[in-house]
Order: sequence, then structure tokens, then C-alpha cells
Amino acid sequence: MVAIDKGTAAGVSFALTEEQKELRALAHTFAEREIRPHEAECDAEMRHPADLIAKAHELGLMNLHVPAEYGGLGLSAFDGLLVSEELYWGCSGIGTSITANGLGSGPVLLFGTQEQQARWLPPLIESPILCSFALSEPGAGSDVAALRSTAVRDGDEYVLNGSKTFITNAGHAEWAVVFAKTDPAAGRRGMSAFVVEMGSAGVTIEKHLEKMGQRATDTSAFALTDVRVPVENRLGEEGDGFKIAMATLDFTRPGTAIGAVGVAQAAYEHALEYSKERVTFDLPIAMHQAVGFMVADMATEIQASRLLCWQAAWMLDNGMGREATLYSSFAKRFAADTAMKVTTDAVQVLGGYGYIKEYPVEKLMRDAKLFQIYEGTSQIQRLVIAREIFTPKG
Ligand code: CAA
Repeated sequence: MVAIDKGTAAGVSFALTEEQKELRALAHTFAEREIRPHEAECDAEMRHPADLIAKAHELGLMNLHVPAEYGGLGLSAFDGLLVSEELYWGCSGIGTSITANGLGSGPVLLFGTQEQQARWLPPLIESPILCSFALSEPGAGSDVAALRSTAVRDGDEYVLNGSKTFITNAGHAEWAVVFAKTDPAAGRRGMSAFVVEMGSAGVTIEKHLEKMGQRATDTSAFALTDVRVPVENRLGEEGDGFKIAMATLDFTRPGTAIGAVGVAQAAYEHALEYSKERVTFDLPIAMHQAVGFMVADMATEIQASRLLCWQAAWMLDNGMGREATLYSSFAKRFAADTAMKVTTDAVQVLGGYGYIKEYPVEKLMRDAKLFQIYEGTSQIQRLVIAREIFTPKG
């Protein structure tokens, strides 16, 4: 059984450095001045925010973990959380569009050779190009090992066939890390990962999917039909794909979880303000315990979520690798479910006004739902947590 860290680790501090405070303030100001004014319009029109992605890129708010040797800032997982919370506080649809390169480039950062990193990482810093993580398929979302795309070796190339769906930014990406079976009979041990240029012959974007929330983010389905990919584009060895996918998700889940914290924080702020202004029975509704306690629970659970995210990132930054799996899932599960609860309660606090589009909490409730689904549903996080607790790791 895994021992759960009770916080005895040396060196834990909640004090941010001056640089971290500045980074967070930069992201907050960008979210307030650039993202918030476009939030409603991008949601209504399902507009891909290319302009805002370009601005975020110019400010250095994208691709934060690319090492300095490839032109990046090489920031820690923890620093990334400070930026993501603010961007998602601005709008999680726009925030996801800006931060999804972290997931797309994750396998290259974690598993690419020096040559592969030198080829694919510097262009991300030079211009606001996008990359995607193409794991999910129409018949394989939670059950990654069930994916059916294939990659057949043909000389110095692989030939890829299959369908991918629910892929963030795929409709605008330069390249994607595509997971496919090189040995379908070997189940998850037969899965491999490839960098595929999205402009390659045989890659067809089939659909920009219309979502309930986070509508500013492009989520697309695409087909691979006899797509030829050079052997040099394979990440790791044949058969490493499953572990590459899992380790990447361990690395990115705290960053997604903190997005849920940003959304919950936004909903909480709206509910707090409204509860101080709205008067019923001669009192601001905040003074009625029924509402005051709801707001108190929001604040408490948001802070608990934030701290779980911070701990998971701290573990990743301190080289705890596989041990961080449990903590990434704690953070993702708790923050996603908290965002759903907080945004639902914020709608309740605003009553009839909360339910109409003129007020922002209706959108936040729709946006929050996705955190319980993407990058592993809340049920998958519970499954990971249960396995990590009950099953010793090899
Ligand atoms: N790191 C490294 N290795 C890992 C690992 C990890 N985090 N988790 C598991 N493994 C290893 C195991 O140790 C095991 O190794 P051996 O074969 O050597 O024993 C092997 O991988 C198999 O592990 P499991 O038995 O746990 O595998 P499983 O098939 O039962 O499934 C799962 C595990 C956790 C359910 C996995 O399928 C999963 O994470 N599913 C959710 C997928 C997901 O998050 N999808 C989201 C896609 S991305 C997205 O949504 C973003 C977007 O663009 C919209």
C-alpha cells in the first residue's frame, strides 16, 4: 500500500517569490484586460481565439516549461499553475486554447530525444503555433488501451490509420502527438507515440465539435488515412506509448485541475459580490445563513483544491515522478468536482439572474462540467486513486 504524504516533507513553503508574484500578476492582468472582454463573444460564437493566443505568446504566457536551451523559460510545474489559474479565471475556453500546448508538447518534453526536442520545441517559442495530444478515439476515451488506430512499419516510415476525437486545438495545430498500435495483439504494450504533422497527406479534420461549455476552445475530430510518418518521429521505443500517455497526464493534470480552481474562483467572486448587494427580507442575502454558509463552503473548498494542485506540482518539481500520480489524481478529481459544485451554487445564489445568459455564472457552470470529463473523468481519477492506494507499484 502506498503511504500518503502527511506533509512532513522538508522545505514546503506557501510564500511565493517576487518573480512568482510578478508572473501571476502578469497573467491576472492579461486575463482581466484581454480575456474577460472577449469571454462572452468567444463562447457565443465558438470563436477560436487566435488573436488572444498570439498576445499570450508575445507576453511569454505559453509553453512555459520549454527549457532555456530551446529558447523557453523552463519554468516549473508550480509556476505553470500560477499562470493557468489566472487565465482560466479569465475564461476557461480561452485559457484551455492557450495552455493546451502543454499537453501537446508534454510527450516531447518528457520523452523526446535531444534531436526531437531541438526540432519541435524551439518553433513553439518562436511563433504562436499550436500542437495537440491525440489519444482519445470514438471508441476509446477512458480505456486508453482499447484504442484502435494503427501504425505499420514500412521501411523508414510508419503508415498510420485511424480516427481521433475530442482533440483540443487539433483543427488549428501544426502537429500532434498521435498514439497508435504498432502491435495490436499486445494490447497496451503494443501502443506507440508519433509526432504527426497535421498538414501531412491523409490527415483530415472531420469536425469541429460543438460543446456545452469551454466553447472558445477548438475540439476536433480527425481521420488518419495512410499517413506516412518517418521513423524519427516516433517518441521512445515501440510499445512505450501507453506509459508516455500516462506520464504526460500525470504531468498535466495538476495544470488542468488549477484551471478548475480558476473557474470556481471566478464564480465565487460573482456570488460573493451579489450576496452583499442583493437584499431580501431587509437584509443583504449574505447575512442569511443559508447563503452565507454556501459562500463559506465555496471559499473553503476552492482553497483546499488549490492546495492539492500546489502539492501535486511540488511533487512533480521535486522529482517524485510516479509517486505524483496519486497526487495529480487527488488534485484533478477534487478540483473538478469542486468547480462543478461551486459554479452550481453560484447560480443558486444569483437565483433567476444566475440562470440567464446576461450574468456570467451560467457560462461558468457550463464551463465547469468539462473539468469532470477531459484529461480523465472524475471516475477515472477515483479509479487511479483506488489503484494507487491498494496496489503496490512495481
Ligand atoms: N505512469 C507510468 N506508468 C503507468 C502509469 C503512470 N501514471 N499508470 C499506469 N502505468 C503503467 C502500470 O504500472 C502498468 O505497467 P505494467 O504493464 O508494466 O504492469 C501499465 O501502465 C498498465 O496500467 P493499468 O493496469 O493501470 O492500465 P489500464 O489499462 O487499466 O488503464 C487508466 C489505466 C488509468 C484507466 C488509463 O487508461 C487512463 O488514464 N485513462 C484515462 C485517459 C485520459 O485521461 N484520457 C484523456 C485524454 S486527453 C484529454 O482529454 C485532453 C483533450 O485534448 C480533450
